[in-house]
Amino acid sequence: MTILAAFPDGFLWGTASSSYQVEGDNRNSQWWRFEQQPGAITGDQRSGLACDWWRDAEQDFDRMAELRLSACRLSVEWSRVEPAPGRFDAAALDRYRQMLAALHARGIAPWVALHHFSNPLWFEQAGGWESSAAVKRWLPYVHAVISALGDLCADWLTFNEPLVYLGQGWIRGRWPPRKQSPRAALSVFRNLLKAHALAYHAIHDLCPSAHVGCAKALRMVQPLRASSPGDRFAAWLRRYLFDELWLQATTNGALYPPLGFGHGDALLRNTCDFLGVNYYCRLWTRFSPDPRLLFGREQFKDNAETSDCGSRGPYSQYDPDGLRAICMDLRRYGKPIYVLENGLPDADDDQRPRWLLAHLLSLHRAIRAGADVRGYFHWTLVDNFEWDEGWNLRFGLFELDPRTQQRRPRPSATLYRQIAGSNVITAALLEQVAPSLLA
Ligand code: FCB
Repeated sequence: MTILAAFPDGFLWGTASSSYQVEGDNRNSQWWRFEQQPGAITGDQRSGLACDWWRDAEQDFDRMAELRLSACRLSVEWSRVEPAPGRFDAAALDRYRQMLAALHARGIAPWVALHHFSNPLWFEQAGGWESSAAVKRWLPYVHAVISALGDLCADWLTFNEPLVYLGQGWIRGRWPPRKQSPRAALSVFRNLLKAHALAYHAIHDLCPSAHVGCAKALRMVQPLRASSPGDRFAAWLRRYLFDELWLQATTNGALYPPLGFGHGDALLRNTCDFLGVNYYCRLWTRFSPDPRLLFGREQFKDNAETSDCGSRGPYSQYDPDGLRAICMDLRRYGKPIYVLENGLPDADDDQRPRWLLAHLLSLHRAIRAGADVRGYFHWTLVDNFEWDEGWNLRFGLFELDPRTQQRRPRPSATLYRQIAGSNVITAALLEQVAPSLLA
């Protein structure tokens, strides 16, 4: 048996999800209200019961165990835990305890995010993340969750993709609160960063041995024409604003004073025990004189492969080598790395098997070259409610009919099981699933 890639001992294999996308019936969230507005979601689709996890996540935990997974990333829904300011719902916290215990019973380690794009309505109505009181409103929720669940979870994420959340909500204006205001975006940035840092310290105060980080979307934006100073500037600016600022702040505390923190701020420094990477695609930029576009138009390479998104959207064109490049780049921070999301919208699963192998081989190349990557979470186990795209984009290893709640494994599920269960990729597997990759 020729082994092409052997992952390190103890390497984590998991899937990732978020509360709003899978639990169903999250009526107290700003996303629920948003969904009700005509035109907000493609085709006016609704999340409804989503994947029905609030009633029965356990059936999908069984599927994870069948796939021989060792970790599961999920999130806690703030709007359930604190439906009104200062009123904590003990039954909701109990349900989360039950879910985490059910994962442990199956030998699966829970990785829990405190925030994944969704806020309670009351918080949103009080000004959301723009408000100067946002952080003060957030911390009691953090305390309640960690006090209730801390003994059942060792690995915590404060925020999922803070800059995507900010970009979609306050710059592009596509997600709630649908604004286009750089000024408000700056307040949100400051508040999210502070909320992250204070949550990091709160978690460590309550659970000193916990590992805490966040899930950062990274795309390795590059100039479309390497020789063009304009393209290079546009790529640099995007990476600086969307990647570097957050990474630098949460590792060495570096942030420029205009952002409201001093340089080398002690509150921010070392507020991640690991780096979490969400990687879907790489991006190229071409210079534009328009400051509203941050001086660049985002473009894909002509020859890049295309997913179910066609030529639109952030998941349309992909590049497996980007995963290697990102992990190599992150070595400069000297922290362990976890790939916390990586997936492809591909309803008929005609691309995903080859796509998955190509990405995992690319990840393995980074590990072999010295990147300290310790786990991989595939997005996602079961098709779920894909925000403003509704049910159109199918990322699941299992296909879901949201009406009947029936699931059906796609071929990629079997493939992922083979890899997760053996911790290796063999030449025979490649030959069988994606012979074109052998070259
Ligand atoms: C990521 C989000 C996740 C899901 C995937 C497809 O950006 O974190 O909730 O929407 O994309």
